[in-house]
Amino acid sequence: MSLLLKNKLAVVTGASGDIGSSVAFLLAQQGAKVIATYNMGSERAKLIQEKADSQGFDLRTAHLDVGDETGVRRFFAETETRGKALDILVNVAGHSDKRVWYSKPEELTSKDWLEVLNVDLVGSFNCSVQAAKSMMKGSGGSIVNFSSAAGVTGHTEGLPYTAAKAALLTITKSLAYIYGPRVRVNAVAPGNIQGGSIKWAGPEEVKRLESEAALKRLGTTLEVANAVLFLVSDLSSFVTGQTLLVDGGI
Ligand SMILES: NC(=O)c1ccc[n+]([C@@H]2O[C@H](COP(=O)([O-])OP(=O)(O)OC[C@H]3O[C@@H](n4cnc5c(N)ncnc54)[C@H](OP(=O)(O)O)[C@@H]3O)[C@@H](O)[C@H]2O)c1
Repeated sequence: MSLLLKNKLAVVTGASGDIGSSVAFLLAQQGAKVIATYNMGSERAKLIQEKADSQGFDLRTAHLDVGDETGVRRFFAETETRGKALDILVNVAGHSDKRVWYSKPEELTSKDWLEVLNVDLVGSFNCSVQAAKSMMKGSGGSIVNFSSAAGVTGHTEGLPYTAAKAALLTITKSLAYIYGPRVRVNAVAPGNIQGGSIKWAGPEEVKRLESEAALKRLGTTLEVANAVLFLVSDLSSFVTGQTLLVDGGI
């Protein structure tokens, strides 16, 4: 079978995380040249680089704090000076803090809110704008934002997170109008996926989460990455402004 992303240049943010690393490897496996970014997880990034090198993938890790607006501008400007316009951006990076997730509404501070919004919403937005600029100079491209099933349904926990993920749905639609027809912008909304914040849940909570889904299990990071692959490749060439729920039927 021919590779779906041959000669494409892709940036995957949050690639040091569970889902992001799966996405970065799958895109590289499909022929893309991947820049896989990390923030605090430099040790994880080292392991990812070693694994990519050993498998012969065209993947390099790079530091990027998506919450740092100046840093984001610099990162995408530098990426462009390497000679090729960007084709793909996957905004996987997401704020992850157990205390904030389990805080009751009255315990949440404005600082908590702003920290989460700055990464999940503003960070994804800033990366998208800089990436789209590069894509418009080239042959167009595809952007995928990471929302969440909880951003569609609401949730009793993680209020700043669900609010950021909900706002990403409209940002996705708006950017699809603004940057179309040359750039497509879509979102994935994972449900309960192995790894990530699920690591905080005890066995009883995991059982409950599994039973919530029509498919009666958690999803795998590869199942989310497969949805991203569909959205960034030409397989979805007439799809834009959409959110693909990857939640096993919640
Ligand atoms: N797991 C789930 O069940 C689930 C469900 C719905 C949606 N999601 C969404 O899917 C995405 C990935 O989740 P995951 O489960 O893979 O979580 P994870 O393992 O905790 O990974 C989070 C990633 O985000 C990065 N990140 C955090 N703050 C950052 C910042 N300021 N700048 C740049 N990168 C930053 C982390 O980088 P460092 O570690 O290097 O700092 C890490 O790579 C997130 O957007 C999450 O909200 C996950």
